Amino acid sequence: MNPAANASAKVKHGFAVFQRNCITCHTLNGQGDAKVGPDLNIPYSPTEYLQAGYLRKLVRNPQDLRHWPQAKMPAFRADVLSDADLDDLVAYLKHMSGRKAKP
Ligand code: HEC
Repeated sequence: MNPAANASAKVKHGFAVFQRNCITCHTLNGQGDAKVGPDLNIPYSPTEYLQAGYLRKLVRNPQDLRHWPQAKMPAFRADVLSDADLDDLVAYLKHMSGRKAKP
């Protein structure tokens, strides 16, 4: 799930943000051991099927987008994930949507 070697600094930092916050529950390109949430690139990246504003809303609090009692994804408020980190994370996911691969 590494970004391309020549990816922008934003994308590379977004990868670090992904590793810090998301990798425990989500695989990407099928890589990783997580089994709690869906893969975030295969078959589609959320950057492909969610408008950017709604993806950000989902990460900030999934329950603001769709609400049900047994949802498991936690909210990432600004004190744990800054706006700049969220921007870079979305840039990383967008970058990876052009680099789909199965391990
Ligand atoms: C504690 C586990 C956990 C963590 C950490 C987590 N997620 Fe999730 N995520 C889930 C689960 C489980 C779902 C499925 C919906 C649910 O049950 O809440 C989900 C759903 C999603 C979806 C919606 C997928 C869809 O199409 O329905 C996106 C996008 C997403 N997560 C992105 C992220 C990102 C980005 C991060 C890191 C900032 C993250 N998640 C961190 C568990 C997690």
